[in-house]
Amino acid sequence: MLKFSILVLNGPNLNLLGKREPTIYGNLTLENINTILEQEANNLNVVLSCFQSNHEGVLVDHIHEALNNYQGILINAGAYTHTSIAIRDALVGVAIPAVEVHLSNIYKREGFRHNSYIAPIAIGQISGFGAESYRLGLRALVNYLQSS
Ligand code: DQA
Repeated sequence: MLKFSILVLNGPNLNLLGKREPTIYGNLTLENINTILEQEANNLNVVLSCFQSNHEGVLVDHIHEALNNYQGILINAGAYTHTSIAIRDALVGVAIPAVEVHLSNIYKREGFRHNSYIAPIAIGQISGFGAESYRLGLRALVNYLQSS
């Protein structure tokens, strides 16, 4: 069976996890989350590449470069979730199945976080489970790829 390759993309300020608003985002660092994801990827028999950037265009470039290299994208676009038509268009452009994740429940928070430009074009969204959102998102993405 084909071993799926998954790109994990993290957007702005997620490099600060561990220090950043721990009451909202928890105590784990992004490195901790990536380690959890690597373990889950092992269990699921898929290959992962994890990347973080604070720059919208760099994230767009990575989505473009995913074409022909990755079968799925797991994305926490951070604040760009609520603002970036460019990231949404890039995901649509490469037509790689994507799952959107958030540590916090964006619908329980300020109104400006309630809109996601990515959600309507993603397979689905998982929001509010802390680091577990990523693990659940990876499982959902791999399950989708395996059954399609
Ligand atoms: C976030 C939620 C966003 O609203 C926020 O801008 C982030 C993190 C989350 O994972 O909960 O940077 O994507």
